[in-house]
Amino acid sequence: MMEQLESKRLIFVTGKGGVGKSTVTAAIASALARRGKRVLAVETDTYSALADLLDVKLLEGAPAMVERGLWATNVRAEDALVHTIRQFVPSDRVSRAVIHNRVARVFFKAAPSVNEFSILNKVMALRDEGDSPSTRWDHIVVDLPASGHAVTFLGVPRTLNGMMRVGGFAKMAGKIASEIEDPSKVAVVAAALPEEMPVKETIELGQQLEETVRRGLTMVLLNMMHEAPFAPEREALFDRVRAGAASASTPGIEVERVMEGSALAWEWYERDLKYAKVLKDAVDCPVLELPMFYEADGASVVDRVSAYLNGERDPGGELAS
Ligand SMILES: Nc1ncnc2c1ncn2[C@@H]1O[C@H](COP(=O)(O)OP(=O)(O)OP(=O)(O)O)[C@@H](O)[C@H]1O
Ligand SMILES: [Mg+2]
Repeated sequence: MMEQLESKRLIFVTGKGGVGKSTVTAAIASALARRGKRVLAVETDTYSALADLLDVKLLEGAPAMVERGLWATNVRAEDALVHTIRQFVPSDRVSRAVIHNRVARVFFKAAPSVNEFSILNKVMALRDEGDSPSTRWDHIVVDLPASGHAVTFLGVPRTLNGMMRVGGFAKMAGKIASEIEDPSKVAVVAAALPEEMPVKETIELGQQLEETVRRGLTMVLLNMMHEAPFAPEREALFDRVRAGAASASTPGIEVERVMEGSALAWEWYERDLKYAKVLKDAVDCPVLELPMFYEADGASVVDRVSAYLNGERDPGGELAS
């Protein structure tokens, strides 16, 4: 499954809040870095916990190194705006003066898509930066804002291109739009959970992406799938043992509790499978299931997901058999 991402230099990750979007962003970035690539993980303006998940302190301006092959940075809206305006005015000073102008500030505040456009433009610039293999990013993995928002976000260049029609800015927006719309160049990954609402929203996200950005999702990472508490082919055996435990005398009470716990875990597992199927039947991109990892902190979860993405099938898994 990583092959689909390895062939794209730009990878945007989206999903509803709290589904593990930042964890997945960090894990994809780290998995690619561990495959020998030079990777930049990007937070877009707002704090997204990405730095904490990667256990790194972000620096002003330059990307911060996380581990071999992996860096992280935050693309701030204001810096991105200065960068964009800079492409049309003679100096940084003039560019900063423009955005600090009172009238211009009101305009930029009133036009939120200006921020979104600038951030995308800055991400593209990072991608184009560095002309030697040792300084060039093989992949840039971006933690986008929550779902509904992400479609608007990725659709902004086309909207602006349509509004301006001609001129340098329209051309610039058109170029970025065409790239985002090309599924062979840019990956859009959705993180989701095997639950009713997140699955429904992910299906809608795929449709909205087709409508607004004229392209589909590259893949869905269905996160936090519960594992079966026992091998699925043992279900009948489990039912018999459970019935036996329920009818056993006093010492059996503890056994009965353990049985109830396993029965509950089995229900979770089956429910997750059900929603995984609903999702797989509705979207026309690959769906990769990621296990629920019972780790103490976010950075260890990122490590586990990263190893899992690279095919190291859950070496320290609780249920490894
Ligand atoms: N596969 C997993 N197994 C166990 N825990 C996970 C898994 N994926 C994510 N988590 C945990 O879920 C929590 C939320 O993850 P994360 O911050 O990545 O979500 P998010 O979608 O980016 O949230 P937000 O909307 O706040 O940005 C974190 O505590 C993270 O460690
Ligand atoms: Mg997040």
